[in-house]
Amino acid sequence: MSKLAGKHIVITGASAGIGAELARQLGAQGCRLTLAARRCELLQQVAEQVRQAGGQAQVAVCDVAQREQVLALAAAARAGFGEIDVWVSNAGHGIRHRVLQAAEDDMLEQYKVNCLSSLWGYQAVIPHWQDHQRSGQVIDVSSVGGKAGFPFAAGYVAAKHALSGLGDVARQELAGSGIMITTVYPGSTLSDFSRAVLDRTDGTITSSLSGIKRRSSLLVRILSAEQSSAHVARCIVGVMLRPRPTAYPHPGATFAAILNNFWPGFVLAQIVKLRRGI
Ligand SMILES: NC(=O)c1ccc[n+]([C@@H]2O[C@H](COP(=O)([O-])OP(=O)(O)OC[C@H]3O[C@@H](n4cnc5c(N)ncnc54)[C@H](OP(=O)(O)O)[C@@H]3O)[C@@H](O)[C@H]2O)c1
Repeated sequence: MSKLAGKHIVITGASAGIGAELARQLGAQGCRLTLAARRCELLQQVAEQVRQAGGQAQVAVCDVAQREQVLALAAAARAGFGEIDVWVSNAGHGIRHRVLQAAEDDMLEQYKVNCLSSLWGYQAVIPHWQDHQRSGQVIDVSSVGGKAGFPFAAGYVAAKHALSGLGDVARQELAGSGIMITTVYPGSTLSDFSRAVLDRTDGTITSSLSGIKRRSSLLVRILSAEQSSAHVARCIVGVMLRPRPTAYPHPGATFAAILNNFWPGFVLAQIVKLRRGI
């Protein structure tokens, strides 16, 4: 029997992509899942797949950009399946814009969905664990964009960097308490994410980005190769089985982030070459 069988796990952003795949994998391990997102019909479909895989599922409509909805999600989750064992802040959202044209509203929206939603998740579950002397785990799904920037994603990258800092601080404050915060850094992943990205540019960037992909060197293509949602979900299941502070599902993306931290001049030179014409 799986070590995770019977665990109550809350997943935000469970209606699609990585979150939906994670739900199906945890269903197969016999978990009890609270699935949250805004699109109820898709959540119901994922919940049915979880049940067919052998798990239990309940759904909760929640906009993670609203603090009171995140707190209400935790309360609804407990009311249905009892105390929460793991909380996965996976919901995420991106807007494509040039940094010089980034609108305040767009920056704030991405900050709320990609970072503050995790803070509200901590505040919704951790005090409850502390009051009941329980251990627990919060998993934040960040991005390699939380370690290294990439063009035309100022709000997303800034929010994911903020999420990295938030996780570091929470981990240190909670060290030794039995409560673990894990930050996961996926690289480029096949999912609905790029389709859901709102484009606030004049449209030239979208067409130029495919040109950039074609012109990229073999090294850049290896470092930015897409992984499947199933691969990222398996990595997240892995950190539930062996809790640790951080996890990087994609070795190429990890290497790119390290390169950017220690050799930013080299990375900039590559970008200058690739961006010619944008
Ligand atoms: N795909 C990539 O290349 C990639 C790379 C690195 C990191 N990530 C991160 O991985 C996570 C999952 O992304 P994905 O690739 O699975 O994308 P996806 O297929 O677009 O799924 C995003 C999920 O987030 C939910 N969501 C978005 N805004 C929300 C809101 N305000 N309130 C509640 N739920 C919201 C969506 O549900 P509803 O629309 O139904 O609300 C959906 O379930 C995100 O945090 C993303 O930043 C993705």
